[in-house]
Amino acid sequence: MAQDLQWTKKTFTLNTGAKIPAVGLGTWQSKPNEVREAVKAALLAGYRHIDTALAYGNENEVGQGIKDSGVPRSEIWVTTKLDNPWHKRVEEGITSSLKSLDMDYVDLYLIHWPSSTDPDDLKKHYPDWDFIKTWQEMQKLPASGRVKNIGVSNFGIRNMEKLLNDPSCKTTPAVNQIELHPNCPSPKLVDYCKEKGIHCTAYSCLGSTNSPLAKDATLMKMAENKGKTPAQVLLMWGLQRGTSVIPKSVTASRIEANFQLDGWSLTDEEMKQLSSLPDRFKVCGDAWLPVKVFFGDDE
Ligand SMILES: NC(=O)c1ccc[n+]([C@@H]2O[C@H](COP(=O)([O-])OP(=O)(O)OC[C@H]3O[C@@H](n4cnc5c(N)ncnc54)[C@H](OP(=O)(O)O)[C@@H]3O)[C@@H](O)[C@H]2O)c1
Repeated sequence: MAQDLQWTKKTFTLNTGAKIPAVGLGTWQSKPNEVREAVKAALLAGYRHIDTALAYGNENEVGQGIKDSGVPRSEIWVTTKLDNPWHKRVEEGITSSLKSLDMDYVDLYLIHWPSSTDPDDLKKHYPDWDFIKTWQEMQKLPASGRVKNIGVSNFGIRNMEKLLNDPSCKTTPAVNQIELHPNCPSPKLVDYCKEKGIHCTAYSCLGSTNSPLAKDATLMKMAENKGKTPAQVLLMWGLQRGTSVIPKSVTASRIEANFQLDGWSLTDEEMKQLSSLPDRFKVCGDAWLPVKVFFGDDE
């Protein structure tokens, strides 16, 4: 029954047995002095999952926001990510993140991109190192207790196959965090991950800053008919596909509205309609990286 659905309390069980809250707060592009308040507001509104990354330069403020909220650390899921120029320094990377966050552990640590970038020249990929070697280092982390679960981000099917088929891969990633919204639905990749027992978290789930989806007529009409905001409908689409969603906002009213997801749902027909929108766009491409990571193998 739709009225019984409690998406804000729901968790998805990972292949490690850990439970990741279905709805989290994203923090990319949250400006300094904004993100601390946003994290606090989200936790006070009931969020229990915060997504950050070394590359966002805001782990310190995220940690402060968590403390400000007064919500016990043990009740919060914190994800952070290893930055590309740190692939040869995994241990140093997590130490740096934990120090900035002022925490003893993170719940999930992800390889941010399958790109082992030379820190001395960001246009170069290491000739002697790739994400397979990075994963070998990542696999050592859970034993320390400082990282509860490990995963990847921005892995398409080709790179995921390469990783899973390598004899050194002993731990299947618990999560693949990827761009997912109705204009980038990647059904093949989502199905592939499901088959391998890898949970997908949907990033840019609203279509990110200045989202073209905000003008999509089908979405607008559906939201109006349901008495919901377009953002709520997009989040519900992500949740009903079995992915966790991490909408970013630094606006208190939007942070609250994006969490009003209990007691309603999209019908099969509405899900189908959103999954069939013809437009395509990707917020995060790979042109800025020294190596290609997307191969169009997800549709
Ligand atoms: N792994 C990766 O490589 C990767 C890449 C991209 C993102 N991410 C993660 O995923 C998170 C979400 O993705 P994202 O930040 O790209 O974009 P998003 O969450 O899809 O969209 C964020 C944008 O939507 C606005 N917004 C939020 N709620 C709204 C509402 N109810 N109505 C209208 N506008 C609303 C926000 O504005 P205000 O903030 O001004 O309210 C912001 O401009 C990131 O923050 C990050 O944590 C990960």
